[in-house]
Amino acid sequence: MYSHRDVVAQVNVDALLHNVAVLQKQCQPGVRICAALKANAYGHGVRVVAPVLAAASPVSMAAVATLGEAIELRELGWAKPILLFGPIFSDGGLAGRKDRLRAVLDYDLTVTAVDFYGVRDLAHEAQLQNKIVRCHIKIDSGMGRMGISPPSAVQLAERLHSLPNLKVEGIYTHFATAGETDKSYCLEQLRIFKETVAALQAAGVRPWLVHAAATGALLDIPESHFDMVRPGIGLYGLFPSEQIRNKPDLRPVLKVVSRLVLVKQIKAGQTVGYGQTWHAPRDSVVGIVPIGYHDGYVRSLSNRAVMTIHNAHAPVVGRISMDQTILDLTDVPGAIVGDPVTVIDDDHAAPNSVVNLARIMQTIPYEVIALLGNRVARVAYTSDTPAQKFETISALEDSSLTGAASLDDSSLLGTPSPTTTPHLANPAAHQVLGNRS
Ligand SMILES: Cc1ncc(COP(=O)(O)O)c(C=O)c1O
Repeated sequence: MYSHRDVVAQVNVDALLHNVAVLQKQCQPGVRICAALKANAYGHGVRVVAPVLAAASPVSMAAVATLGEAIELRELGWAKPILLFGPIFSDGGLAGRKDRLRAVLDYDLTVTAVDFYGVRDLAHEAQLQNKIVRCHIKIDSGMGRMGISPPSAVQLAERLHSLPNLKVEGIYTHFATAGETDKSYCLEQLRIFKETVAALQAAGVRPWLVHAAATGALLDIPESHFDMVRPGIGLYGLFPSEQIRNKPDLRPVLKVVSRLVLVKQIKAGQTVGYGQTWHAPRDSVVGIVPIGYHDGYVRSLSNRAVMTIHNAHAPVVGRISMDQTILDLTDVPGAIVGDPVTVIDDDHAAPNSVVNLARIMQTIPYEVIALLGNRVARVAYTSDTPAQKFETISALEDSSLTGAASLDDSSLLGTPSPTTTPHLANPAAHQVLGNRS
């Protein structure tokens, strides 16, 4: 098999499991965890993250945004419930609707109910197939996005409750400002949500699972935990914002590495990259890293970010292009082609940490990780297979030499099937990558 990956996202399985344990400890015993695995597990690669969380007992459910993501997760072998945050229907065509209803049933998905008609059609289809379908009613308590308004919630719940083959299993909401310093709006949303749950209860509908907290509220608003919490960013070792008050020891899971593919000398005054935005101030050495904005290393990092090489911070110079980034290596003596480069560091304090890159990009950490493109290989590792061993792309080369599938391949999880329990990715990675020592 050819080795064809130039950039690797190393996914630290120990850190991921550590974060699950840390988040669980923030909650009362018995509170369940629904892991947000949408957006390719926040860019970390659902194929490597899902098997780890499948085997983590505190995680009892996964949540994704789209039907496609839900199907992918099931096909990877995820056997626990999957909550679909997003709409059941996005195209209006009848044939498309029927297909999507059947997919929900075929893949045993739990849907979000925000109105009556979509779920009614689903319940009818379930009746035809003699199946039960589960839904969670989503209340818009103030986010102003997906969800039914609180005054209409009781009526919706009663109507859904009366449908055959439909189980109203849960009720939930989502906060707009849980990560802000001022929690007053969030607390008002919480009050409205509690009131809505109480009204449902009074009407005889008390769904089994009440949930509201994503990472921000999980950390800062314990009274919002109810029966289940839905962390995303916290699982990956990051905080939703700098304003979070309660900051337990979460560890970044992701490190992105690549290598120098060209090193060359240029004269003082020469320019590099599109638009000639960097002029060498002295005779310089520059190196090329094969990552660009298509991979999520976005153009706004041009002339502002650094990458780590030989424990030094090499500035990104010139404009980042679609597939390549140029580093100034003048102060990194001895850098040669093939040397490993840390593009995104898993050390919170590093200048190229997710948080610092987000600052430079004037965005949030979520965007930095979620943007990682599909050319970036995702590889799981554990403390038994130390990170240094993965400093070069040879992790992938070796895996192909041992005959294992490339690590973005579903074979890491065994044969895809909605009913099989996935194998852990880490033993597989260990087995493949342990051979290299
Ligand atoms: C409804 C819902 N719940 C939970 C989450 C997870 O959020 P976070 O990553 O902040 O923990 C999200 C993410 O956007 C979401 O939309």
